[in-house]
Amino acid sequence: MIKPIELEHVFFSYPSFSIDNVTTELRQGELKAVAGRNGSGKTTLFRLILGLLQPRQGEIRVFGRPVNKDNLWSVRQDVGFLFQSPQDQLFAPTVWEDISFGPRNQGLTEEETSARVEQALDIVGLSELGGRPVNQLSHGEAKRIALAGIIAMRPKILLLDEPFSGLDYPMIAGLLDIVNNLRREERVSVMYTTHDRFFLENWADSVLVMRRGRVVYDGAIGAALVSPDLQPEVGGCSLLRAHLADSTD
Ligand SMILES: Nc1ncnc2c1ncn2[C@@H]1O[C@H](COP(=O)(O)OP(=O)(O)OP(=O)(O)O)[C@@H](O)[C@H]1O
Ligand SMILES: [Mg+2]
Repeated sequence: MIKPIELEHVFFSYPSFSIDNVTTELRQGELKAVAGRNGSGKTTLFRLILGLLQPRQGEIRVFGRPVNKDNLWSVRQDVGFLFQSPQDQLFAPTVWEDISFGPRNQGLTEEETSARVEQALDIVGLSELGGRPVNQLSHGEAKRIALAGIIAMRPKILLLDEPFSGLDYPMIAGLLDIVNNLRREERVSVMYTTHDRFFLENWADSVLVMRRGRVVYDGAIGAALVSPDLQPEVGGCSLLRAHLADSTD
């Protein structure tokens, strides 16, 4: 079966940071977390998968197609990327125009585009915000609107970069429902980054752990959670307790 995402011995370099020999895959229907300390290369990895950056060595495939100039358009029809900072994702003057950009670009008619926008706004529960300028949205609203823009394009893969950070609990619950529905009904495969052990424990089939641009673990979630070596990446709040003493004296 063709895999949604495959990376084979991928190398990439910024002047002072490198992705070093990353091999991994996302299987059909899989929910894969990506953990790693700040600056370990998680966002860079997602940008490589989208073809926003080009590896200097190795190959990335989306549903079997190499991610290169020739396939960029079709790859981006399949992959919805929720940016770490939603305001970086929104660019049109209003919410409605922003969400309609993707489906219109896919060649849908104005009528079909409007239907997609309405449905996407409904799914994220923000139908009343259609006319709002995108620069007047709160962080959480912007995140949901960015997600609506992705949903409107009906992607088969979601790359979610820290989707839960900065969201209140009902909003996180809503986002979980949306993504779980897409997984169940559209068989969408999902890769998402997180620093939060709660999500690793409760919402992942597998985890890819990055450290300084390299993969240090890629597999079942259970073994990662108990691995002493991986505690900086998956350990959660236990790491913080020793640092709380002063504030409780
Ligand atoms: N455009 C860029 N030019 C040069 N270096 C960059 C660029 N973007 C990121 N980097 C560097 O690459 C490294 C990896 O960054 P990346 O954003 O992939 O980390 P991350 O794992 O997503 O971190 P975080 O958890 O903070 O989001 C960092 O050291 C960062 O400074
Ligand atoms: Mg990041």
